[in-house]
Amino acid sequence: MNDGEQRTYRPLGKVLVIIPTYNEAENVVPIVRRVRAAVPEAEILVADDNSPDGTGKLADELSAADPAVHVLHRKGKEGLGAAYLAGFRWGIDHGYDVLVEMDADGSHQPEELPRLLTALKGADLVLGSRWIPGGRVVNWPKSREYISRGGSTYSRLMLGVTIRDVTGGYRAFRKETLLGLGMDDVASAGYCFQVDLAWRAVKAGFHVVEVPITFVERERGDSKMSRNIVAEAFLRVTAWGMTARAGQLTGRRPAPGDEPGVRAADPAEPAPPAAPPAGSPSVPAPAGEAPIERPSQSPS
Ligand code: GDD
Ligand code: MN
Repeated sequence: MNDGEQRTYRPLGKVLVIIPTYNEAENVVPIVRRVRAAVPEAEILVADDNSPDGTGKLADELSAADPAVHVLHRKGKEGLGAAYLAGFRWGIDHGYDVLVEMDADGSHQPEELPRLLTALKGADLVLGSRWIPGGRVVNWPKSREYISRGGSTYSRLMLGVTIRDVTGGYRAFRKETLLGLGMDDVASAGYCFQVDLAWRAVKAGFHVVEVPITFVERERGDSKMSRNIVAEAFLRVTAWGMTARAGQLTGRRPAPGDEPGVRAADPAEPAPPAAPPAGSPSVPAPAGEAPIERPSQSPS
């Protein structure tokens, strides 16, 4: 399967939980409290798109009362992807080592974050997954489940990735993973941002692990899911898939056995260090940084 190369990982370091918000006035206070209680060592960045309902002001009050809570005020609604990219850049500039994505509405339970972080000790990227054994969804209408499962299945087929929940939004990235996957030219605005980042991570040869989560549908406020968001995802995934297929046909065919892979982690156990698929590109190193410590090769 591989050449025996083992990845070892540095300790996680400083964790920043990024919570994008648009009209989450009923949710922002409870979610920040829950994160602070569940993972006291983590800090929080609320990335608010100038919500008309005053979410940003509530976040400012939380921040004034707790130095571990930060707020990024953005000009207006530009989509989940843009808010996360701005949050990632803020976090990296401010010296955080791990960047977590979490919805504001309680769908991603902060109490499950320690399991994601434990898995990240042996991975480059951890995806909270609804669609692997142990993962589930509570209170979702069937229609929404079909869209999500269908979206994941379509993305897997088009892109040739083995990730089961490729659209999910509960994730933990090492900083080096974000720096190595080419964040700066991500254009996806809506939920397909999640597919985009996962696919980029797999293509870059990063070790991606799925951990089961229980996704709980929001009780307060409204989903921002729209027809446009679904359409953007469908069109972009289709275009990426076609481009990848065209690349294969014109000779950039991957060697047997090197299709991008993902494994599920035992939630109770940190994932063991694993090697990238044979033939996958080496992990890109950001300038001046050694993102992944590898066993030193003794000179022969
Ligand atoms: N700043 C900002 N700007 N935040 C936004 C925007 C935006 O334009 N659009 C949505 N959000 C925030 C919401 O306020 C919420 O905190 C989070 O992003 C998720 O939005 P929801 O509207 O609650 O998403 P959902 O429940 O329909 O979708 C869930 O499933 C998707 C598909 O699996 C989320 O987990 C998504 O991340 C996921 O892609
Ligand atoms: Mn939601």
